Amino acid sequence: MSNVYSEELIEEIRSRNDIVDVISGYVLLKKSGTSYKAKCPFHTENTPSFSVSPDKQIYHCFGCGVGGNVISFIMSIENLGFVDALKLLADRGGISLPDQYEAVDKEKYKSKQTQYNIHKESARYYYDNLKKSKTVLNYLNMRKITSETIIRFGLGYASEDWEGLYQHLLKKNYSIDEIAQSGLVIPKKNQKGHFYDRFRNRLIFPVFNLTNKVIAFGGRVLDQQLPKYLNSPETILFSKGHHLYGLNNAKNNIKDGQIIIVEGYMDVISLYQHGMKNVVASLGTALTREQAKLLNRYADEIIIAYDGDDAGRKATLRALDIFAGSGCKVRVMKLPKGLDPDEYIKKYKLEGFIYQIKKGLPLVEYKIMLAREKYNINSTEGKIDFSKEVAQILKNIKSEIEIDGYIKKISKETGINEAAIKSEVYSNKRMYNRDKTPKNRIGNNRNTIEYKANITSNDRKNAIILAEENLLNAISQDLEVFIKVKKFINWDDFTLDIHRDIAKIIYKKMNNKETVIPGQLLDIFNSEHEGQVISGIFSKNYDKEFIDKNIMEYINTIRIYKLQEKINNLNNSIKLMSKENNVNVEKTNRIYIEIIELKKKLEALKGK
Ligand code: CTP
Ligand code: MN
Repeated sequence: MSNVYSEELIEEIRSRNDIVDVISGYVLLKKSGTSYKAKCPFHTENTPSFSVSPDKQIYHCFGCGVGGNVISFIMSIENLGFVDALKLLADRGGISLPDQYEAVDKEKYKSKQTQYNIHKESARYYYDNLKKSKTVLNYLNMRKITSETIIRFGLGYASEDWEGLYQHLLKKNYSIDEIAQSGLVIPKKNQKGHFYDRFRNRLIFPVFNLTNKVIAFGGRVLDQQLPKYLNSPETILFSKGHHLYGLNNAKNNIKDGQIIIVEGYMDVISLYQHGMKNVVASLGTALTREQAKLLNRYADEIIIAYDGDDAGRKATLRALDIFAGSGCKVRVMKLPKGLDPDEYIKKYKLEGFIYQIKKGLPLVEYKIMLAREKYNINSTEGKIDFSKEVAQILKNIKSEIEIDGYIKKISKETGINEAAIKSEVYSNKRMYNRDKTPKNRIGNNRNTIEYKANITSNDRKNAIILAEENLLNAISQDLEVFIKVKKFINWDDFTLDIHRDIAKIIYKKMNNKETVIPGQLLDIFNSEHEGQVISGIFSKNYDKEFIDKNIMEYINTIRIYKLQEKINNLNNSIKLMSKENNVNVEKTNRIYIEIIELKKKLEALKGK
């Protein structure tokens, strides 16, 4: 596909977008040796196995196998086609593409750009209104929001005017259709083709995406009216449950690997102002799996700091369940009843807030705490009910040591015998596991056996793939090794098609004494599969000592394979001749002699 575009241009775009720079906009990269590590954005994991190499300009996940260069990364993460990814990176690198590089989905691309512009223009309009409005400035003042914070979060004001924004956008030459698509105006019921502003007389919170573009708004009343908040509807830029308020700021301010999640716009803003900048809010919906995944990309640990009321607790339990499946560590910060994070930090200051985070409870302890509050553990009955509920909570824990630790604590607290609680926990566990066991066990076993039967031929295949991969990696970065390998095998001796194609390029570059940048190879190979293969090969560490020790074995593995292949071909040609009654004695003899020669070589190689 890429051959439509000049290699030079693609190379230019790629070189203006350093892979570490680009990827760090999407995940939290940590330096590790010569490369960077992160939790893979393409699958769920606890320990980082996603690696990005600045030298090689590739990424590779050792967990799920994905990989490629900066272009394929953008294709996957932004869900774009090749041309659109190229376009995004060109924009980012400040390169303008000639006409033939227009996005494939031109219409969609254009209307997205228009909506970004409309949202930017609207944010500006609301902000200008706010600066003019005494009432709103007073309100913010009363809530102790500084002018610096107003600017940082781009706060604004939608006036009481029914068509203020609508008329403003018309004046800026946006069409009625375009304005309607923004969701910022609502069609009048009995006047077709007429619209009024969605947000009126409300404090406005712009919602930014990860690249700091406005994609939606929230609006709060300035008094006690209902609904307290209004939000943008779903649009081409904004889908509910896919974004987090404040993540654009938080991702650059991660502390101790933590992100704090709160319920409200005001919580995010207030915490930020007090110096707690790693905070996001889930934007008026219950936390979704998408959002949890997004957070997991940036944080090692999530602190849930929902309001201290019943609704907040329910939301906390739901969020805990969602995080449990996301592979993320979570703790719950307990807020006193009736206080939200905004009120808490105002009252107890940053130090108090940090102290509360430190005291945050992990999932199991949080559940035990809720159980404790539910029962009156001064009565015998309460003690029994409490212990029974704890036994239910503990059944999900895998580690026996951990279970034992909790049992000791509960036993001490309630005076109920440890053995009794333990027996209850394990009986719950058995029941729970029985329910979870899949019914088609037999089918699974059969698959295992079939798999084993194939292992020997797979082993041979794996040996040659491994040899070729390690050779390609080595010759691409070490001229000395290249010269040695070249003595024995040519690029077209590589047995896998893709290896052969890669080898051809590497041989050419190394012969010309040019550096090989694996990320550049991927300009030419841009399918998902090729990305995986190539990033897999070149993201392995190059260990010179190891290569020196094994290089002849790799070379010989390929030579043996090649010889064997030749012998097989010759044998087949003899078989074919006799089958077709076309035996030419002289020719057959010549082939036999050749086979004997090859077999001698083969034995000699194998003996090494
Ligand atoms: N929310 C919403 N629609 C509502 C009420 C709430 O979308 N009708 C969302 C908003 O994102 C809000 C969050 O839920 O920020 C939490 O609501 P609440 O705690 O009531 O608001 P606060 O952010 O605490 O705002 P304030 O302190 O100004 O009351
Ligand atoms: Mn509040």
